[in-house]
This record gives sequence, structure tokens and C-alpha cells, in this order.
Amino acid sequence: MGKDLTKVRNTIFICTGGSCKKQAAEDSVRELRCALKMAGLHENTHTIKTLCMGQCENAPVMFVDNNNTWYKKMTKDTIEDLVSMKLEVGKTLESNEFYKKGWKEMQPAKIITPKTRSELQWQDDAVLGRVNSIRIYPWEFNTYPLLKECFTQRWEGLSLFTKKHGAIEGKCHVEYSEGKAFIHCPSKDISIEIVMKAVRESEEFPHKISEIKLFHTEDEKQFGLHFSNLKEGVVLQAHWEKSNGLWEHLINNYARISS
Ligand code: FES
Repeated sequence: MGKDLTKVRNTIFICTGGSCKKQAAEDSVRELRCALKMAGLHENTHTIKTLCMGQCENAPVMFVDNNNTWYKKMTKDTIEDLVSMKLEVGKTLESNEFYKKGWKEMQPAKIITPKTRSELQWQDDAVLGRVNSIRIYPWEFNTYPLLKECFTQRWEGLSLFTKKHGAIEGKCHVEYSEGKAFIHCPSKDISIEIVMKAVRESEEFPHKISEIKLFHTEDEKQFGLHFSNLKEGVVLQAHWEKSNGLWEHLINNYARISS
């Protein structure tokens, strides 16, 4: 049976994603649960292991909900110090805090300089002529929302063209499964597979989206997105004739990177 949540006063989220695991996060979990049990805090403290919390530079990372506090470098040696505070509101392990609700600045273990976004550049395109374009980073968490937004919400005025199936009309459905997006197109009764995640040694790697280009033509009458992979070049094209704010939105939301 699961823990009786009516008795829980604190919940501790412990990251066991890749970077935290490398810093022995599993040992920290074991040590934390042991220390809570020994301190009689087991009943009223719920511990939850998570995947990456997006704070890898602070690994191993923990978040304690009652103090609204994020902790860095929570190795097994620091666990006892944390538990000795009895996890009471207001009592906290200050040396390991890196953010707490209300702070104006974080205090990470490592300062990572944010990458700036790529810039617009004029280029010659064999089909479209001179275009002003910007690179969108083809990471999985950028590519999937981009596909979903473009093909399920911004489809009015959209011309969609795929290397394999040619022109496609109408609204599509986009779904995610195991590192791939599937664009289902009812008008043609087809499903287009877009590989977003593939390990370098795998057969799928050459099919992984390696570049996403957002562009507008010199006369500014057309703008769009081109998705390419290493094997086939541009596999998917999305073109619009009117922006209605979409161009700015795509640049701000997808071409900018924060870390
Ligand atoms: S793996 Fe723990 S914060 Fe990223």
C-alpha cells in the first residue's frame, strides 16, 4: 500500500536523472530514506524520485516542498545535515540552497553562461531565391511543440510539403512516441514519421532532424520552416503567405535558447 498522504507534511523530490545519477544520487536517496526512518520522520515525509529537473549543474538536486527550497550537491554526506533540521518550516540547510521562492537570484553550484540565439542571415536558396533565415535548434523539446503548433493550430494558410508524400492539405494531428513525432494527415490518409531523437550509432541517426530553418523571402510575401536530416536533406516544408504575428512568435519562442 502507498504512503498515507493524510499524514504527510513534507515531500522531497530527488532527481535521479543522468547527471545526478553520475553524482551518486541513488546513494543519496538511500541515505535520505534511511535518515528519515531513523529520525522518525518517515511517516510524515514523502520522497519521490524524479527524472532530470533541469538543474544539472547543481547535481545531485533535491527540492523540499514545505520550505519551497531547492538544494544543490546533495551527496550522501549532506543528507544527515538536512534531516537533522527535522524538515521544519524555516529550518533549512543554507549551505546547499540554490533557490528558494522569493529569491531574486539563484545561487547555482556552477555558473553556466547562457548561449545566445542564432541570428538572421541572408542566404541564397535554390528554389526560393534570396531568403533571410534563422536556425532553430532541433532538440526534441523544441521540435515537437513546433510541429504540433504549426500543423495542428496554425494550419490555416499553411502549405505543407513532404519529400515522400508531396503536398498535403488540411489540418493534421501530431503525436509523440519514443523520440518520434507522427504527423497524421487525414486528407491523404498518411502518417509522416519525424525522427527527433536517435543515438549516433543507430540506423535512425541519419534520419534524425538535424536542422530547422525559419526563413522569409526577400519580398516578404512568404515565410516558412524547413526541416532537414542528414540522409535526405529537406524532408518537410511548411510555408505560409501571411504572418499575422506568427513569424515573430516562432523566432521568440523557438529560435531563442536560454541555456
Ligand atoms: S539530471 Fe538531475 S537535474 Fe538534471
